[in-house]
Amino acid sequence: MIIAIDGPAGSGKSSTAREVAKRTNSLYIDTGAMYRAVALFTIENGIDAHLEISESVLSHVHIRLEPSDSGVDVYLNGSNVNDKIRGSEVSELSSVVSSNRDVRNKMVSIQREMALECVNKGGSVVMEGRDIGTVVFPDAEFKFFLIADPKVRAQRRAVQLKEKGVPASEASLYQEIVDRDGRDESRELSPLKKAETAIEIDTSDLSFEEQVENIISVIKGNG
Ligand code: DC
Repeated sequence: MIIAIDGPAGSGKSSTAREVAKRTNSLYIDTGAMYRAVALFTIENGIDAHLEISESVLSHVHIRLEPSDSGVDVYLNGSNVNDKIRGSEVSELSSVVSSNRDVRNKMVSIQREMALECVNKGGSVVMEGRDIGTVVFPDAEFKFFLIADPKVRAQRRAVQLKEKGVPASEASLYQEIVDRDGRDESRELSPLKKAETAIEIDTSDLSFEEQVENIISVIKGNG
């Protein structure tokens, strides 16, 4: 069984997907982390992400996801890069690398391979991203599209940053979110879009538990 969870940043997608995977005993695949790892590779190797990414550059990029207590560990060329891929420089650049055709082709093929390896052994997969229900697994058994009011998403992000001791203005976070949505929705390749058959869940007024329960009840046939 494949469960696809797509949606914009800050919609509650990652935390919800991780918990749904835990409760359904599924493999959790965070596809955003893979684009982030490619972005990190370009930074660490002085590659211009706008101009210099090619199949030959990508042949030096080996990304592996390993299940862990926190959900998933991300390895880039053998090194654990969990922390490094969450910085703001990588976040910005991951949006650039994810619009590159060669990058998308490579990531999508790794994602399909990882998921099918698990499914072929009788397992289930929760895969989270932007294009899982539309491109990676359009025939997934379950497809969800999480959304939330940009103002709520900016508030959530501000709280997360505050917890890390990083000061942030909600107004500028709001603008960043609106700008990023615009870029993700209008890009030529695999734009952020709800699959026709996906179930849309607006998490603006939902608690974390309600978000998770909404999805679990659909999977169990009670939704
Ligand atoms: O979900 P995230 O913020 O970790 O994603 C990082 C970047 O990768 C973000 O700019 C969107 C992009 N992305 C994508 O284009 N396709 C996916 N399936 C997942 C993420």
